[in-house]
Amino acid sequence: MTQSDQRVAIVTGAAGGIGAATAAVLAEAGLAVALADWQAAPVEQQAQALRDRGYQALGLAADISRRAEVERMVGRAVEAFGRVDVLVNNAGINPPHQAPFLEMSDETWARTIDVNLTGMFLCSQIAGRVMAKQRAGSIVNITSIGAIRPTPGGVAYHASKGGVISFTLALAVNLAPNKCQEQRTENKEQMRYNRTAVLCSRTYAKATLACGSMVLYVFCMFFFHPAG
Ligand SMILES: NC(=O)c1ccc[n+]([C@@H]2O[C@H](COP(=O)([O-])OP(=O)(O)OC[C@H]3O[C@@H](n4cnc5c(N)ncnc54)[C@H](O)[C@@H]3O)[C@@H](O)[C@H]2O)c1
Repeated sequence: MTQSDQRVAIVTGAAGGIGAATAAVLAEAGLAVALADWQAAPVEQQAQALRDRGYQALGLAADISRRAEVERMVGRAVEAFGRVDVLVNNAGINPPHQAPFLEMSDETWARTIDVNLTGMFLCSQIAGRVMAKQRAGSIVNITSIGAIRPTPGGVAYHASKGGVISFTLALAVNLAPNKCQEQRTENKEQMRYNRTAVLCSRTYAKATLACGSMVLYVFCMFFFHPAG
C-alpha cells in the first residue's frame, strides 16, 4: 500500500523499450508504478530494478488484448497501491517482415488491431472505471507518426495507430461527464482538439531519450480532475 497522497500509474508494455523508460520516469517523479507486459520475467526484472532503487513498483504479467487479463492487471494494481491515477497505454506491436498489403494475412491484420487498438480499449475501460469512481485520473495513449505519415508496408500498424488518435478523441468526449477537462500544458508544440491535447510531453520525451530512441512521437492524453 502506498502513502495516501502517493499517485499510482499503470504502464503497459513495460518489459523494455519506451514502456520501461516511462515507468522509470514516473517512479522518479514519485509515483508508485505497476509495470505490465505479456513478457512476465522481463517485466518483473524491470519492476525489481525500480524496487532496488527504492521505488514502489509491481511487475504484472498480462496480455492486454484479453479482457480477463486486463481485469486482473488493474485489480492487482488497485490491491497493491489502492488506486489508479495514470494509465499509460504504451504496449504495441508492429509485426516484422509483413507481407506487402496485397498479400497481407488476416492474422497479421487481426493481431495488430487486437493489441494496438482493442488492448487500448480494454485497458482504458477497465482502468477508466476505477478513475471514474475516484473522479480523478489521466490516460495517455501512445500512437505513432506513422498514423498520419505512413511509409510503405505496415498497413495494419498504421491503421491501428490512426485508430488510437480517433479512439482518444472519442474517449475524451465520452468521459466528459466524468469531469474530463482540457489539459493545460506549457509545451508550445501542442495542438488542441476539444478536451484532448495531442502533444509531445517532457515526460515522454525524457523516456524516449532514456531508452535510446530519437523518434518523435505524437500521443494523446486526457485528464479527469477531482470533482468541484
Ligand atoms: N520505437 C519506435 O520507433 C516507435 C515509433 C512510434 C511509436 N512507437 C510506439 O511506442 C510504443 C512502445 O514502443 P517500443 O519501441 O518501446 O516497443 P517495444 O517492442 O520495445 O515494446 C513494446 C512492449 O509491449 C509489449 N507487448 C506487446 N504486445 C503486448 C500485449 N498484447 N500485452 C502486453 N504487452 C504487450 C512487448 O512485450 C514489449 O515489451 C508502441 O506502442 C509503439 O507502437 C514506437
